Amino acid sequence: MHTQNSRISGFHKLSMSERLNKVMEVAGLDRSAEAQLSNTGNLEASVVDSMIENAVGTMNIPLGVATNMIVDGEDVLIPMATEESSVVAAVCNAARQCRDSGGFTTSLSGSLMIAQVQLIDVSNPEFARLQILENKERIREICDQTDPVLLKHGGGYRDLEVRVLEGGRNGPMVITHLIVDTRDAMGANAVNSMAEAVAPLIAEWTGGKTYLRILSNLADRRLARARATWSLDAIGGKSVREGILSAFDFADIDPYRAATHNKGVMNGVSSVVLATGNDTRAVEAGAHAYAARSGQYRSLTRWEVDQDGNLTGMIEMPMAVGLIGGATKSHPTARIALEIMNTTTAEKLARVIAAVGLAQNFSALKALATTGIQKGHMALHAKNIAVMAGAKGPEIDTVARELVEGGKVRVDIAEEILLRMRAKGVSS
Ligand code: MEV
Repeated sequence: MHTQNSRISGFHKLSMSERLNKVMEVAGLDRSAEAQLSNTGNLEASVVDSMIENAVGTMNIPLGVATNMIVDGEDVLIPMATEESSVVAAVCNAARQCRDSGGFTTSLSGSLMIAQVQLIDVSNPEFARLQILENKERIREICDQTDPVLLKHGGGYRDLEVRVLEGGRNGPMVITHLIVDTRDAMGANAVNSMAEAVAPLIAEWTGGKTYLRILSNLADRRLARARATWSLDAIGGKSVREGILSAFDFADIDPYRAATHNKGVMNGVSSVVLATGNDTRAVEAGAHAYAARSGQYRSLTRWEVDQDGNLTGMIEMPMAVGLIGGATKSHPTARIALEIMNTTTAEKLARVIAAVGLAQNFSALKALATTGIQKGHMALHAKNIAVMAGAKGPEIDTVARELVEGGKVRVDIAEEILLRMRAKGVSS
């Protein structure tokens, strides 16, 4: 067996191709791996190297475009980066079924982010809390000086909140929240810098010690909302509606189900977040923390019936996404994704993403409440299985079709089909 030594001194100082050679040597990779990794696709090697530490290549993920979406009265094409076969189709289907009732209506609570400053070692935390609050205007000055560009774009410091939290190992902690309007930026860098600039003064005013100075991903002052109505005719009748409502009840009561339900929501949300070069983990952390805000982890969506008996759905979740900074600017595909969406503000991006999350949830619940998820999944998954079995070009569709017709979507069966086809000289 090949043994590896992961201690490679000076690895980060090597060029990308030198790093790749080193990895090939240590991991015992063959030349085909080198060809695979040195092809960085549509991202220039120099960009890749400047984006992360120790880069050796790229990991390409398919980019699809979901159709049929109407958001706030406008048609919008949705770029989605995902490796999961059914995700794009789910959005297209949900959007088609609510087009006649007007599509999705969205809103955003604001573009406010929170930065936290942790203060410990204060014997009189309630007193310290007031000392900090009294300095609201001084804190505004420091924050706004830290990011004059944000100020110029209409953003900047908005408010202050100070909480006393019990339960620290050395007594209560005093947590200051800087509330900052980050406009078209996701805002992590802006608010982190502000927290770092303000922290020494908080320590000085209170006599305590400041530790963490970092944003909160529970961006509950940046809530994106979307709602839509699906007519009974469009969804296939009352029993489908009842199935979806009952699926929602299940998720809202049971965290085991809610985790899967919200995973489906995030299939849609994270795909657009990724396609636009935004931070998927930030949005995911915010979503799940928000889903648990009542003390129990629940559904991010809600489903009801309107006075005419139609199905109505809504979603509300933190959506910390931006158009400036990080990969949103440096990744050329992310910039094109925004053009595909015809999106020039972070607000529109956030609102459209919420609509995509709701659409995804509709399709998942409808499939689960009717035919089950495997039928649709398998039809799409069959292509992956065909590729895994070695099918190439037109063989992929033929093998996938036969797999679905046979009702068993398995690699061993795909291999048999492929062998049979090749023996007969059939490829399509
Ligand atoms: C699969 O990626 C997502 C679903 O499990 C979501 C759900 O169960 O609601 C289908």
